[in-house]
Amino acid sequence: MRAILLALAVLLPAVAFAGAPQFGFQSWFGGFDKAELQIGFATYQANCARCHSLNLVSPNELQTLGLTPAQVTALLAKGKPVTKPEAGGAVAGDLSLYEAGHRHGASAVFDLMTGYRTALPNMTMLPGHYYNIAYPGGQIAMAPSLKPGSVMLADGKAASVPVMAHDVAAFLAWTADPTLDERKATGLRAILFLLVLGVVGFLVMATRMTR
Ligand code: HEC
Repeated sequence: MRAILLALAVLLPAVAFAGAPQFGFQSWFGGFDKAELQIGFATYQANCARCHSLNLVSPNELQTLGLTPAQVTALLAKGKPVTKPEAGGAVAGDLSLYEAGHRHGASAVFDLMTGYRTALPNMTMLPGHYYNIAYPGGQIAMAPSLKPGSVMLADGKAASVPVMAHDVAAFLAWTADPTLDERKATGLRAILFLLVLGVVGFLVMATRMTR
């Protein structure tokens, strides 16, 4: 019995923390990081909104991120799906739910945003396409879009491309699932409640048996 308990004590944390997630909210109890989401939103506005819409994100939801009503209005005014005729009519789709439809969506967006490379000399590129090692087939009709210097951090420095890629990926995880935090908090409360109930039940039984 003791050996089993010991094995569980070692294995459970190992399973929980295996492959340390790139994003806090992908872990069991981790939630969204508001500061990251705000940088992600700024990144989206500066670098993605002119081609990709976020039609399913409501103004009220955006205000919970700490955005002013004016910022929200500015966001919603932008963003219409763009097509690229030179790239066979490729469409820049709405990104609201993009990550909901993809396993490890946030990691996939991060990889895509940081996956651009210079095409090798022996490659035949389709017109209007760019070499990206994270995209199936390696050729995507979206130009590298994270512009260095387009987003400023609180300390007055410009956000680097990997930081923008990370935080815009986190932001799109939030747009795809804005109630994740609430659900995890409810789950945690339920677990704590059951634990307390278990302890009380055990104590009641124990006191009855010693009588
Ligand atoms: C100049 C217009 C333009 C900008 C700016 C732009 N995109 Fe795109 N994006 C596209 C187009 C066009 C496609 C479709 C590509 C294709 O089908 O090959 C696309 C596709 C995508 C996809 C889907 C890839 C897939 O799996 O099919 C994602 C995710 C994406 N963009 C995210 C972003 C993010 C995040 C930003 C901002 C950092 C951004 N895009 C900025 C035009 C743009």
